[in-house]
Amino acid sequence: MRPDSTVEPVSRLPSSHLPGQPLTALAPMQDVTDLAFMRVISHYGAPDYFFTEFFRVHAQSRPEKHILRSIDENRTGRPVFAQLIGEDITHLVRTATELLRHPVAGIDLNLGCPAPKVYKKNVGGGLLREPAKIDEILGALRAAVPGRFTVKMRIGFDDTVNFERIIELVNHHRVDLLSVHGRTVKEMYRSEVHYDAIARAVVQARCPVLANGNVTSAARAAGILAETRAAGVMIGRHAIRNPWIFRQCREQFASAPVIFRPTLADVREYIGRLYRETQFPGLPERMHVNKMKKYLNFVGQSVDPTGAFLHDMRRTESEAALFEVCDRHLLAESGREFSPEPYPGVIARPNCETPSVLSDGCSLETITA
Ligand SMILES: Cc1cc2nc3c(=O)[nH]c(=O)nc-3n(C[C@H](O)[C@H](O)[C@H](O)COP(=O)(O)O)c2cc1C
Repeated sequence: MRPDSTVEPVSRLPSSHLPGQPLTALAPMQDVTDLAFMRVISHYGAPDYFFTEFFRVHAQSRPEKHILRSIDENRTGRPVFAQLIGEDITHLVRTATELLRHPVAGIDLNLGCPAPKVYKKNVGGGLLREPAKIDEILGALRAAVPGRFTVKMRIGFDDTVNFERIIELVNHHRVDLLSVHGRTVKEMYRSEVHYDAIARAVVQARCPVLANGNVTSAARAAGILAETRAAGVMIGRHAIRNPWIFRQCREQFASAPVIFRPTLADVREYIGRLYRETQFPGLPERMHVNKMKKYLNFVGQSVDPTGAFLHDMRRTESEAALFEVCDRHLLAESGREFSPEPYPGVIARPNCETPSVLSDGCSLETITA
């Protein structure tokens, strides 16, 4: 371990939209938070920070081109942190150094991915079992990254015995920002989120902490901030469901007299925009429709309490069929409010990380590369 040195102030972070207000960030989501999605989110109200989906790091890896686009071609005006996942120190440092040649706001390390395929390789959430290895990785990356170095973690692997120790390491290596998803790896996405653990991290960490996990609405964001005293919130799936959520958070944090309430017609417009933004030459229609289903899976949680939209949307196989379902469910009662919270019992499936290989065996990454 290197000796502790002066803790950097919050001002090392890029400035927020609302100085003095809590921070907001779009959570990194593999196959979701690409350039197209960041553009769409910005249209409805950008967060303070973006994080890329993870760059996989190993001996043969090179930064994936489609993820680099979300940095190099990003015109949203908001800072983008580049996230890495891996455990090989030489290659983590090599990749971080390479990424620093791009206009990144900082380098983020993934200590939370719960997919067994990932943690069995001892990367992502798997590393939470090995604080000694985390110590080495944080030390090497801190030395390699002169600017902002951030960490995103879960609260443990199958319990929280290492949690305090890992936050000590975060302090020791002068991490600039810590995002905490308040579940263990083994809890995947099933359990309640342990906001009490996030609150403990806020007390112990010397850097700002973003609270992550089930921040479902602006009202919940305010409640979670009050409970955890975190510097801000990081929002993933509920920003896919409701892209106005960052605008609503800003209005909520500023105690605005009116908080924007989208209608089903607004949601229909969002879906059209998503379709246009995610289109690129050569993308087969069927694959594009499948990609849209990933997003609509979450959107559908707030369309109707019976899940009828989700039911019909999941059965579509063409652009025409998809938009016929959208028009039928969203334009018939176009002035009806889109629920700010998901309807109870209307479940997104899958609701977590899934392999990037689509049903026809072709990876989106391959064809966008
Ligand atoms: C489809 C999907 C992909 C994800 N990919 C990543 C990733 O690349 N890196 C990461 O740190 N977390 C990833 N996560 C986890 C999210 O960043 C976030 O921690 C988690 O979804 C909990 O936040 P939420 O309740 O706001 O969605 C992913 C989650 C989902 C649903």
